[in-house]
Amino acid sequence: MLLFLLLMGIVGPHCTSARTHSLKYFDTASSGVPNFPEFVSVGLVDEVEMMHYDSNTKKAEPKQDWMSKITDEDPQYWERDTQIGLSNQQVYKVGIETLKQRFNQTGG
Ligand SMILES: *[C@@H]1O[C@H](CO)[C@@H](O)[C@H](O)[C@H]1NC(C)=O
Repeated sequence: MLLFLLLMGIVGPHCTSARTHSLKYFDTASSGVPNFPEFVSVGLVDEVEMMHYDSNTKKAEPKQDWMSKITDEDPQYWERDTQIGLSNQQVYKVGIETLKQRFNQTGG
């Protein structure tokens, strides 16, 4: 019986967290679209936005309380995520320019 309870204690928490969650990032690059940033990155957990970066603010920012609190354990998190956003923004900018050339796109 004791062994059974111990097993329940070990296995139990894993069983309750075994449901499926999702983590998605949507990166959108554009050029010449009025009132829309050239680069936007949105992170979602279970379809709920939890982070946002765009080329106007040039800042990765939390969209949920639990993402704001991440700095309690990892004070550099948002600075690091901002650097990733800036870096991806540059990569996508080059990609857009390449696409424009390949498709003879002169406008945005
Ligand atoms: C772009 O223009 C060049 C030169 O006129 C042409 O050879 C090429 O097929 C064009 N590309 C597309 C995707 O229309």
